[in-house]
Amino acid sequence: APIVPFAHAMPLPKNLKPTSFTATSDLYEIRMQEAQVEIVKGLMSKVRTYDGTFPGPTIRATQGREVVVRQINELQVNTAVHLHGAHVLSEHDGLPMDTIVPGGERTYRYPNNQPAASLWYHDHAHHLEAENVFMGLHGLYLLTDHNERTLPLPSGPYDVPLVIRDARVEADGTLLYTRPSDCPHMLVNGKERPYFQVAARKYRFRVYNACANRYVKLRFADGIEFTQIGTDGGFLETPVQQSELLMLGGERADIVVDFSRYKVGDSVVLENPGAQSIERPEVMRFDIVRTAPDYSFVPGRLTTYPPQPTPTVERDFEIRTFPAMTINGQSYDPNRVDITAKLGTTEVWTVRNVEAPAAPGKPDFHLWHSFHTHLTYFRVLERNGKPAGTRDLGLKDTVTLGPGDTVKIAMTWGPYTGQYLYHCHQLGHSSGGQMGRIDIVA
Ligand code: C2O
Repeated sequence: APIVPFAHAMPLPKNLKPTSFTATSDLYEIRMQEAQVEIVKGLMSKVRTYDGTFPGPTIRATQGREVVVRQINELQVNTAVHLHGAHVLSEHDGLPMDTIVPGGERTYRYPNNQPAASLWYHDHAHHLEAENVFMGLHGLYLLTDHNERTLPLPSGPYDVPLVIRDARVEADGTLLYTRPSDCPHMLVNGKERPYFQVAARKYRFRVYNACANRYVKLRFADGIEFTQIGTDGGFLETPVQQSELLMLGGERADIVVDFSRYKVGDSVVLENPGAQSIERPEVMRFDIVRTAPDYSFVPGRLTTYPPQPTPTVERDFEIRTFPAMTINGQSYDPNRVDITAKLGTTEVWTVRNVEAPAAPGKPDFHLWHSFHTHLTYFRVLERNGKPAGTRDLGLKDTVTLGPGDTVKIAMTWGPYTGQYLYHCHQLGHSSGGQMGRIDIVA
């Protein structure tokens, strides 16, 4: 369908209301169901949803208080729900074979014993996660804690999620799962290239790359700097100025943008200048429409991480797409244990993307990999032999690897034993087998 940028006001995903409470837990119910939604102006698209909305409803959780979600599958396909970035027991992790069949249901328990972070839940059913996520099975899960509540950051209406993803919508409205170079539409919070009306003050944006298979390079058209305050696993220890965010599927960036530099009546476009093939660079437009008081600011210290123990185990990983989608030469087999790690051990993983760069001018999305671990966060120690730079700061659960890149990451396995996963978060790759099984043992 034709691209009409800035035709939609950007919606905010609705907050899901608990169906009940106990002394320790909030209980929710979600029906996975088909729905008709307007993604591109004037067209209706059939999508797969959590609870009828695209993206799904936002769950707001608090550290120390359990969330219990009853997921009911009213779709025609198998599903499995994974809470990305959450530290949960294996049976609640949404493993590929722990599927919810059509007509079935499953209850997931999330203990929320981890610091504030911008998490998201999405499908993880065996071989189906790419198409299911692309068709709409993704939603936000915002975990807060005491530290976050004491920080003087923009909050309430000035704390806004931006769920960025691509799509291909046909002239009759059909949402078609296909490779990213054939996906011309860029969506924010489910709408094609929307506009968002802001006040001339600071905003906090939780930026998610929810694309199934596309990296984005985000910058403002006028090149302004913004302040990054967080990443996958929550706050950075200290804020950092950025002018560009390079994000692969699964990654989050928490940023503060100060619109007080603009006059009422100005607009600024957020762009993805890494656009390739049939995509246009615009992602969304911010329209500065009023002034507003602003007592928020970004403090010099946001959090303090516990010290990382000295690593005692080293492992090497090589990710390949040709001739088959593999990690260390193996395609995912749920019955094969690829790695056994001991609870509480700290390990260093060297991860290599062995793809060669694309020919100049050719799309290269399929040559990128985003390495993701379940259960725990990691720190990026090195990228291509150099200490991690501003692109790799903080607690990560997903790290980007361009063609030929090598990263060294360190993680401590825990807090649970059981069966978990590591995989490429280009979901076409993980669906195709770029995934391994790691069992954590006592
Ligand atoms: Cu967001 Cu195993 O995935």
